[in-house]
Amino acid sequence: MIAPAMDCDMYAHSATQANVCILQERGHVFVEPDEGELASGLTGKGRMAEPERIVKEIASFFEQKNELKGNKVLVTAGPTFEAIDPVRFIGNHSTGKMGYAIARELADKGADVILVSGPVSLKDNHPKIKTIEVTSAEDMLKSCRKHFPTCKGAVMAAAVADYTPEKAEKNKISGKDKNLTLTLKPTTDIAAELGKMKKKNQFLVGFALETQNETKNAQRKISDKNLDFIVLNSLNDKGAGFGHDTNKISILYKNNKRTDYQLKHKNLVAKDIVHEILRLNHKS
Ligand code: CTP
Repeated sequence: MIAPAMDCDMYAHSATQANVCILQERGHVFVEPDEGELASGLTGKGRMAEPERIVKEIASFFEQKNELKGNKVLVTAGPTFEAIDPVRFIGNHSTGKMGYAIARELADKGADVILVSGPVSLKDNHPKIKTIEVTSAEDMLKSCRKHFPTCKGAVMAAAVADYTPEKAEKNKISGKDKNLTLTLKPTTDIAAELGKMKKKNQFLVGFALETQNETKNAQRKISDKNLDFIVLNSLNDKGAGFGHDTNKISILYKNNKRTDYQLKHKNLVAKDIVHEILRLNHKS
């Protein structure tokens, strides 16, 4: 934890603020300085926080750290790959960064996390995260169905394929076929399945990545999938969505209430999402 104290111009300087962001992204926690008279004689933001406030923030950090202790939480992350033949598949651009960041943040708050992950190049060795590697939407569904009943809730951050080939060919399809037709069938909506299974004391959080009619589509998904809230990210926002280290989200609720967040590192976005989950937890 860092409780900075410096002159107001230095604190407000873009270089200082950029470095504060880097440290926060790496998991350091800041106790913001107070406003008031400074050693230089200037008045502004830069006075070291009063020791009482620093102690309070340290205590609250450790309380929150264990807030989810004893709770199992399911997180889905990454893409799914739907086999066409032994060498080809239908996939998408998801890298799993957002889901993995959420899993880590939940584990840091004391939860035992079951991370059901599609094929990604990320690895997590957090002692409180158990990763279950899956490939297809069908595998992901099986794993989620199995684990959800013993979980406090689930965060569905995976980009699950909506369609899968009706049958995966046993042998490699020849590239010489002039007219290749693939017949696809819809996959099961995993979030909606868990929405049907959801008990009163469980939470379910979904994601929506939209390119048009964002709010309307996201709002519809809340009720279709019986979610507590949905995290909307738009591909129209620069720096948001697949592959980026940053994301810009809005959280939408059943009652049309919404909160819009700034563009920030996915580790900090994960903190905002988990903060909302904890708020839900307090209400129930
Ligand atoms: N989802 C899921 N299983 C699926 C499809 C989606 O669990 N087969 C989850 C995603 O993880 C996400 C939410 O449902 O949390 C919304 O996913 P999205 O792809 O935006 O929505 P769809 O319901 O697939 O609708 P559409 O493709 O029409 O936008």
